[in-house]
Amino acid sequence: MKKIAFWSYKGGTGRTLTLCNTAVELMRMGKNVGIIDLDWEAPGVPLLFKLDPEFIEKRPSLTDLIIHRVIGILSKAVHEVTGLVSNPPLRGRLYILPTINSPELDNIKFDDDTFIFLNAIFDNFIQVYMLDYLLIDTRTGFSVTSGLAANFADATFICLRLDRQNVSGVEKAIKGFKINGAKFHLIFSNVPKIKGAEAKIAEVEEKLGAKGEVMLGLVPELILDENLYSLSNPEHELSKSYKKIADIIVSKK
Ligand SMILES: Nc1ncnc2c1ncn2[C@@H]1O[C@H](COP(=O)(O)OP(=O)(O)OP(=O)(O)O)[C@@H](O)[C@H]1O
Ligand SMILES: [Mg+2]
Repeated sequence: MKKIAFWSYKGGTGRTLTLCNTAVELMRMGKNVGIIDLDWEAPGVPLLFKLDPEFIEKRPSLTDLIIHRVIGILSKAVHEVTGLVSNPPLRGRLYILPTINSPELDNIKFDDDTFIFLNAIFDNFIQVYMLDYLLIDTRTGFSVTSGLAANFADATFICLRLDRQNVSGVEKAIKGFKINGAKFHLIFSNVPKIKGAEAKIAEVEEKLGAKGEVMLGLVPELILDENLYSLSNPEHELSKSYKKIADIIVSKK
């Protein structure tokens, strides 16, 4: 059992789409996977699996667990989406614990007790659903939840575009990871197939003092709408990159 966080400094790096495709790749390997959405200001996971947002809003969610400090309703908040993504059938199972934006979350004090409670939710989710992997979608930038996920996760995948805003924020984050001895992996996203991209990658790796382990190519179609390529287009180069992330996760001791 492993907890894996996905984080980015800037928004719109493709972090959530990457996490969801990675979950599909892990299912393909026969793993049971849970996804927890900590991005409660702008949650997105259920939509990527084409769940009806109105249906999700009516059901209990992680938000209720946090606001009411109860774990007992976990099973009412978890959605199994194995069937939705099982064409062709994949061997593993997939569960989502969504979150819903609520002003009441602004009143929550994110102290040590809340962190311990959130980690207890992670652990319960893992035990009750016999998960091999829990993938945690964090919030963009240096937020409490991203700190929390990085602290409790076995490793964090950092998703960044190659521009200077992303690189500058990630540079700062890497210093923190190194000080805390926390494991991280770099994913370069939206990498265009143009002259100069290779040189830019080398420059960014030099600046960050770390290698990009996975390159996600820029796919124009995905700018128009999200699409889980690992399901719809498993042989695509992008899906192979998502598979590489799943391989890194599975190879972790
Ligand atoms: N490889 C890609 N090429 C082009 N567009 C992409 C690629 N991956 C994702 N996108 C698009 O980028 C947009 C943002 O993706 P996504 O929501 O996964 O990013 P995010 O980092 O989770 O954003 P946020 O910070 O808002 O949570 C979506 O429209 C998605 O389809
Ligand atoms: Mg997102």
